[in-house]
Amino acid sequence: MSSKFSKIGFVLAVAGSAVGLGNAWKFPTLVGQNGGSAFVLLYLILTLGVGFVIFLAELSIGKLSEKDPVNAYKNLAPSHKKAWSIAGFSIIGAIMIVSFYSVVIGWVVKYFIDSFGIWGFLEGSNSLFSFRNLTSDLALSEANFTHFLSEDILTQMLCFIFVFFFIFFVVSKGIKDGIEKLNVWMMPTLFILLVLLLIYAAFIHEGFVGALEFLFVPDFSKLSGDSVLIALGLAFFSLSLGVGTIITYSASLPDSTNFITSTLWIIFINILIGLMMGLIVFTFIFAYGGDPSASGPGLIFISLVTLFAKLGVVGNVLALAFFISLFFAGVTSAVSMIEPFTFYLINSFGMSRKKALVYIGIVVFILGTLCVLSSAKATSFTLFDKSFFDVLDFTSSNLIMPLSGICAAIFVGFVLKKEALIILFKPFMSGIYFEIWYIFLRFISPLAVVVVMINNFYPIEKMLAWF
Ligand code: TRP
Repeated sequence: MSSKFSKIGFVLAVAGSAVGLGNAWKFPTLVGQNGGSAFVLLYLILTLGVGFVIFLAELSIGKLSEKDPVNAYKNLAPSHKKAWSIAGFSIIGAIMIVSFYSVVIGWVVKYFIDSFGIWGFLEGSNSLFSFRNLTSDLALSEANFTHFLSEDILTQMLCFIFVFFFIFFVVSKGIKDGIEKLNVWMMPTLFILLVLLLIYAAFIHEGFVGALEFLFVPDFSKLSGDSVLIALGLAFFSLSLGVGTIITYSASLPDSTNFITSTLWIIFINILIGLMMGLIVFTFIFAYGGDPSASGPGLIFISLVTLFAKLGVVGNVLALAFFISLFFAGVTSAVSMIEPFTFYLINSFGMSRKKALVYIGIVVFILGTLCVLSSAKATSFTLFDKSFFDVLDFTSSNLIMPLSGICAAIFVGFVLKKEALIILFKPFMSGIYFEIWYIFLRFISPLAVVVVMINNFYPIEKMLAWF
């Protein structure tokens, strides 16, 4: 490998990958629905017991081979090289995710533009684009969002194309000059913006106290068997495991980096930003009587924007800060989904980075466009009864990610020589700590992932009900 991350570049790039749109609506909503801090505690245990363990397995594969996932498995496997290299093709999952993920970042761009609040002259007109001022009327806000998704292919495509070129441009510059540079200025800026938003929120006394209670007061009665599985799925998704990102970034890990403390930092930053976003979103929701149980996109693109609109010009400024933060969080994740396949094409076919990105770009562009079209009314279509969006999401999150996580655990736990791992880990984690990790890696983590996977297809609570 010609270019490696700097130490801080590695931490920020992996944190940039982990911190994404998921932190803004997945994390806060799930915490709220599953009993506040009781769920945070559960999530923390599973992140350390399973997420951290598999993260280190993927990191070992990347660091020991310094290759993309496909070639990493091929190079490291002592036998059955071809068969193992199939596990590396989980990088296809990253291409699926980036295709719909960029469409959603496009929605963020649309609301960022709306937040300028200068589109009054478009109101009610038959303008080509659906840029609108944010409105404090909840029904209208909902109508605007629905209109944007189901009627306005043009604006959605425009925003998607902007995001598309932005992320491909960054990846075309490579690890050091593209991805590292992007993360080194975006991640601290994201953090500062969130701190400022949080300070503002802290002054909205009632809302802030409500949000604190919602997120932190443990309500163990809301914790069910399902919560455990949800927390584990979230731990996996939010650490960007299972689609080759960690393997790929670890191939550019500088030798002297203490990757144990780096990983713990990444996990800490990821949870901290999830909680900050949660506090910000729920403060506004509680202060102005929004619906805290509205989940996912509705929470942000419908409820939250009406609350910003109530605050006049201040609201515009807050909305701009909030959506640019989300944009940063999303973009740093998106670039980390493109890099694995790019690195594979470079290694396996000797392609130039630019050429590899043209091929990948064509695929992502087509898949992204299909996402936009499948949810628009005039061009809607479904596959296996799901929108194209959901097909990509379901296949990547419920099939590819867990399978590839299990493969990584088995490969590092049973196929790679223990001595090689001991040498790799020695400067940073040895003795009993290493042994504990090794046992978790071989037995506990893969089993936990298998259980989550089964549950995604056959909800275990339902099965238990049979008895
Ligand atoms: N962790 C990201 C988030 O929370 C999403 C994500 C899932 C991801 N899998 C990934 C990002 C793989 C990069 C690579 O939004």
